[in-house]
Amino acid sequence: MEIIRTVAEMRAWRKQAGKLAFVPTMGNLHEGHLKLVAAARARAEKVVVSIFVNRLQFGQGEDFDAYPRTFDADCAKLAAAGVDALFFPTERELYPRVRQDFNVEPPHIQDELCGAFRPGHFRGVATVVTKLFNIVQPDLACFGKKDYQQLHVIQAMIADLNSPIEIVPVDTGRAADGLALSSRNGYLSAEERAEAPRLYRNLSMIRDGLLSGSQDYAALENAAREDLAAAGWTVDYVEVRQADTLEIAHAGEKRLVALAAARLGKTRLIDNIEVFR
Ligand code: PAJ
Repeated sequence: MEIIRTVAEMRAWRKQAGKLAFVPTMGNLHEGHLKLVAAARARAEKVVVSIFVNRLQFGQGEDFDAYPRTFDADCAKLAAAGVDALFFPTERELYPRVRQDFNVEPPHIQDELCGAFRPGHFRGVATVVTKLFNIVQPDLACFGKKDYQQLHVIQAMIADLNSPIEIVPVDTGRAADGLALSSRNGYLSAEERAEAPRLYRNLSMIRDGLLSGSQDYAALENAAREDLAAAGWTVDYVEVRQADTLEIAHAGEKRLVALAAARLGKTRLIDNIEVFR
């Protein structure tokens, strides 16, 4: 596996790569990331993964400094997964003027769901993904459904800007007890880790309610919020939305997604389940 640290080398490597699939990450790789790599591997001649902890998408007081950086272990996993190149740029390479004046501004959805609790987050994501796309110039790129709103923002950006890159959504990788794999799970204490699957259990209960025909989304959302709060969580949101647009869902909607974000101690966890009925 080639390790590429500069934009110039990445562009030169891309020129000889043929059909290229790209998996952008922030590192500290787990089986969820490796599902993206497998999806990429199956669809292209060459696979490039990037590791870059993007300061622009972290808010004040968030975990940019604490974010786990595990370069050697990540390299071993990517090489074993058959990745052809790892793009591992410095901040100076990706933000050459240090300041970032031109940004990619997502529409109103950036202020809802996670965006309501993380101002500027999706602008930071859309901007860095655009920069990475401009450097790597892949034919396709894989994103996890674990970050459902992020996937939606990227898909809408690609469509609105007529980008030629195909976006491939990949199902969420989970631990045996249902907890969605996440780099932030490493922040959990042993007791918190045992408690953490409650988020997925509540989303599963919402799914079951929706599949059995319930149109009262608010009742399902409130039951989940109350269960989480009673177990000591601080709930940011639990919402049933339209799966394709993330707009508010009305009764009778057939393609839904239940999304939640809640904090367990200092750790903010997110998860979601699609419900097509
Ligand atoms: P990161 O959190 O490292 O995630 C990289 C990719 O892995 C994202 O597409 C994310 O949705 C996917 N992923 C994470 N956990 C997953 C799981 N359990 N199952 C399936 N896929 C999973 O998301 C980011 O980094 C950044 O915002 C980034 C897109 C790289 C821009 O900086």
